[in-house]
Amino acid sequence: MLISLLGKLKFIPCTNKPLEAIIVSMDFNQQSVLFENFLVEKTNSYFPLPSLINEAVHYSLLSEGKRIRPLLCLGFAQAFSGDQDQALRFAVAIEMVHSYSLIHDDLPAMDNDDLRRGRPTNHKVFGEAHAILSGDSLLNMAPEFLLKELRLLQVDPNKIIDIVALLMEASGHEGMIKGQSLDMQYQAKDLSRFDNESLKSILSNIHKLKTGALITWSCIAGLHSHDDTQFVQKYKCQVKSIGQRIGLLFQIIDDILDVTSNMQDLGKTPGKDQQNSKLTYTHLYGVQGATAIAKELIQEIYQDLEGFKINGDWQIIRQIIDSLEEKLPQ
Ligand code: IPE
Ligand code: IPE
Ligand code: MG
Ligand code: MG
Ligand code: MG
Repeated sequence: MLISLLGKLKFIPCTNKPLEAIIVSMDFNQQSVLFENFLVEKTNSYFPLPSLINEAVHYSLLSEGKRIRPLLCLGFAQAFSGDQDQALRFAVAIEMVHSYSLIHDDLPAMDNDDLRRGRPTNHKVFGEAHAILSGDSLLNMAPEFLLKELRLLQVDPNKIIDIVALLMEASGHEGMIKGQSLDMQYQAKDLSRFDNESLKSILSNIHKLKTGALITWSCIAGLHSHDDTQFVQKYKCQVKSIGQRIGLLFQIIDDILDVTSNMQDLGKTPGKDQQNSKLTYTHLYGVQGATAIAKELIQEIYQDLEGFKINGDWQIIRQIIDSLEEKLPQ
């Protein structure tokens, strides 16, 4: 493993940074392995076992997710030649927030799901109280983890405040939580008072908030791993805009797969959106219409990528977009 990695490593002399800081170009699988190992290490250290609540945290955080948010963060960091040490911490923090959101999303009071990532949902194994608490714990730990870890790396305190504030905004009451609240309010069965155009705009807003906000933060965090503040300033609007598109695309595909996929591929129960009377892209546009919108978004995302005009290593970001496109019905 180490030998095959060596060709990809660039050694920066005179540094006392740990190994991950000096790996500047890796492919998707190498970044995945690096992230997974780092996540396990940090989970063990911040949520030590034995302890019931920490076991519930390990159960969800370390189960087999696609890790798209961490990989977007690491992918943008790589494209912008950012700092791998910082990007890895951002990636762990976003996976903590995402895992919390899934544990709570599956609760009986919300989507009432029994299966997640191919296993019984957290509350099925640990009970509702510990599902709620382990979710709380993950949400709380994300900023705590970033504050402690970034301080150890001696990152500029202003930058630490900025990135933590952005994460709290993305996950907070005007971000993901608001999206989840709207998702729970707009039940497809009682929407006859709205015209179609209003519903379309309500739905795209729900998706941008409940899913887009964390995905956008992941992309922005990758950019923020760069230490030159002028560089970050220069690209931040462009990264935000592509992040929002990727977030919307991701949730539209999730809506489509709920209709077209199966339990084994999804790792969750298909058909739940209709059962829960959710307002989704397939409900409003049908599978074909939703697929057409997703394809358009993919074209726009590729144009966004061209627009960066940075001669970086975009392979991970491109691979993520390609893999999303492959999920669409033909
Ligand atoms: C599921 O997210 C929730 C949505 C926002 C659609 P993912 O599809 O990224 O779930 P995991 O992390 O791979 O399980
Ligand atoms: C969840 O959206 C978005 C979150 C903030 C967790 P969904 O409810 O569609 O996600 P799944 O389909 O359960 O993964
Ligand atoms: Mg939901
Ligand atoms: Mg759900
Ligand atoms: Mg869904």
